[in-house]
Amino acid sequence: MMQYRVLNAEFQINIGYTFQLNLYMRVGINLHQKTLQHTKCPFLKTFNINMTSEQAITKYTKFCPYLHYKEMKSETKKCPIDHSQFYSNQFKGVIQQIKDEGRYREFKSLLRTNGEFPRAINKTPAGDQPITLWCSNDYLGMSQNPMVTQATKNAIDLTGIGAGGTRNIGGTSIYHVELERELADLHRKDSALVMNSGYVANMATLDTLGKVLKDVTFLSDAKNHASLIEGMRATKKDRIIFKHNDYQDLEQKLKQLDIQQNKVIVFESVYSMNGTVAPIQQFINLAKKYNALTLIDEVHAVGMYGERGAGVTEKLGLQKDIDIVTGTLGKAFGCSGGYVSANTEIVDSIRSTASNFIFSTSMSPIIAAACLESVKYLKTHPEIRERHQYVASLIKAKLKSKGIPALNSASHIVPVFIGDPLLCKEASEKLLNEYNIYIQPINYPTVPRGQEILRISPTPLHTEEMIDELVDSIECVFKSLNLKMESQYTAEQRAIFQ
Ligand SMILES: Cc1ncc(COP(=O)(O)O)c(C=O)c1O
Repeated sequence: MMQYRVLNAEFQINIGYTFQLNLYMRVGINLHQKTLQHTKCPFLKTFNINMTSEQAITKYTKFCPYLHYKEMKSETKKCPIDHSQFYSNQFKGVIQQIKDEGRYREFKSLLRTNGEFPRAINKTPAGDQPITLWCSNDYLGMSQNPMVTQATKNAIDLTGIGAGGTRNIGGTSIYHVELERELADLHRKDSALVMNSGYVANMATLDTLGKVLKDVTFLSDAKNHASLIEGMRATKKDRIIFKHNDYQDLEQKLKQLDIQQNKVIVFESVYSMNGTVAPIQQFINLAKKYNALTLIDEVHAVGMYGERGAGVTEKLGLQKDIDIVTGTLGKAFGCSGGYVSANTEIVDSIRSTASNFIFSTSMSPIIAAACLESVKYLKTHPEIRERHQYVASLIKAKLKSKGIPALNSASHIVPVFIGDPLLCKEASEKLLNEYNIYIQPINYPTVPRGQEILRISPTPLHTEEMIDELVDSIECVFKSLNLKMESQYTAEQRAIFQ
């Protein structure tokens, strides 16, 4: 008797006259594959067996005289190359290059104590460092809002943690349904679809547009986010890039396309790195004139702009004129996840065709419950948005008064221009180590090389005292590192600061 055992055997008769029985056996420590072959079996059937291979072979060869087996021993040839060195050197090379360019990313390990935001603890090997967060995209501090955290606790007690499946296979909870209703209402659309992140929402939406709209051409703003760029690229459809926020350039590009051709203008409302805001009205006008669909990413605007927090389109009264809006639940709403909202046909098409939506476990129901509470809360609390805008404008004015080169931003984002990756990193480290102020340096690839910034994101929870502390600390760091003040740039360069 041979010393092997059948670990997993599946006897499967395929359509037609051939079938195979694959027996995976352990012989000593080696894995062998044995195949039973049949060439003339007239019926279709599947057997699952779990027995020793001797028994299996005896049983099935008896059962069918046409059945025989052949053994395929896997031969391992000795490879002349040191496998692990070969691969690890390639990864090491890339990391070294990133380090040499001064853009190696070191994650901070933070404890954002509930109720203390924007204060937090930076956990370092040397001990706990109390810091003030000035770069969080928890723009309104909703991650610690007591109503939101209570809704999350209630949901976990009621339903546990996981969704238990994809949306189609048991993963749709009452919270997902309610959240989608709430988001559709927020955007004044028929429908909304929740995803695991804003990134996925953009990818999924573009994936569907690429599949449904024959020969579609995407017209994409030059500063679009990676998720939009990757989403368009993945469709393998034509993509024309127009200059950032330049509707004249966009029109030139639209003019060259047939009016009958499918086209989608893809842009953001608020650009998160330089804080610019799109000329939405002009883009809509062009979309109507040249028969294009509009897709706006309001990731850095939802919760923060408009009477109910639906974004810049709401603020401008343009919600009905935009075809598709995508958003995140991970920034101003303080939780995680993303979504798309549009008319029924579009959302239903995404739901039915986007593979990164269909084949992924749905958002946890407790996160959906938290998001639901946050969206509802912000709909009825415009005073949070007002305070947010006030804090942002106060910081901008104070930085300007000190001659710090803060970029001209029409939004809540306050980018301080450094223009060098190593200096940017050094300035950030100085702020953290000497002033307990945390502002992450923003380097390539998040911004183009040479446009490195310290990106300040104010919140309504930052006090006047914290603001003064921030501005004074930045001034000291600029002086000690001899960084260029606004007045040291040429008139042309200064235009972007005004
Ligand atoms: C413009 C834009 N769209 C989409 C995303 C992705 O959103 P999420 O963080 O929810 O994946 C981001 C993330 O920063 C973003 O800046």
